Amino acid sequence: MRTPIIAGNWKMHCTPAEGVALCRELLPLLPAAKAQILVCPPFTALSAVGTVLTGSEVMLGAQDCFWKEKGAYTGQIAPHMLREVGCRAVILGHSERRGRFGVPEPDFDAQILAHFGDSDRTVNRKIKAALAAGLLPICCVGETLAERQEGRTDIVVKRQTAIALEGLSAEQAAGLVFAYEPVWAIGTGEVCAAEEADRVCGVIRSAVGEHAAAAAESVRIQYGGSVKPDNAADLLARANIDGALVGGASLKAADFAAIVAAAG
Ligand code: 13P
Repeated sequence: MRTPIIAGNWKMHCTPAEGVALCRELLPLLPAAKAQILVCPPFTALSAVGTVLTGSEVMLGAQDCFWKEKGAYTGQIAPHMLREVGCRAVILGHSERRGRFGVPEPDFDAQILAHFGDSDRTVNRKIKAALAAGLLPICCVGETLAERQEGRTDIVVKRQTAIALEGLSAEQAAGLVFAYEPVWAIGTGEVCAAEEADRVCGVIRSAVGEHAAAAAESVRIQYGGSVKPDNAADLLARANIDGALVGGASLKAADFAAIVAAAG
């Protein structure tokens, strides 16, 4: 049995003081869940939020990292730096950090730095660096609206999954978390139908199995994109969905606690 993992991606919300207040409100509301629970504040709030979470069941995570350990990389944060402020996990390859929306991913070398420029290959580097530092990577994959309309959903998530896993052992692959986040469902209120989300999570699981057969059953796959208290139970009941990556609703303590409760 896979342990569900419910993660809150706070994105660019919450100062340290606001993050502390949110967690103080959240902790007493959380049910005694069998799920792992994770919150991912902005870098500047990690230390303060980590202090509030000490001794609780809730793990601390970050929203990105770089793949180098140190050096002249202005503005970047190394995985071991995240570990030292108490992070146990890191979200990687979120669609808000990948290359330009709606445009097929360019070659690594010819990358268009349209958003934050992450590509399948930089995400793979980040996953390896995160694992080396002892962080749990949560690798986001998902198609844009245009890709879905062109019938390319499965091709896109298979490619993103396969490249994310390059160079990883079966054991490393088995320990990863993937998050299926259809780009068109993020922040739009338009949740992917649970049946379809489950189907695509199954495609991701098969792609993990093609990399390492033994990893397919163990790898955990979250759904993300407009998860709310009223749709969480249906999504989380599906065979291939092992948790949720929650954006907007994770900023409301009662809503996030209700989503955790929906995980059983
Ligand atoms: P929303 O839950 O706000 O749609 O965001 C989903 C997301 O991007 C989580 O990483």
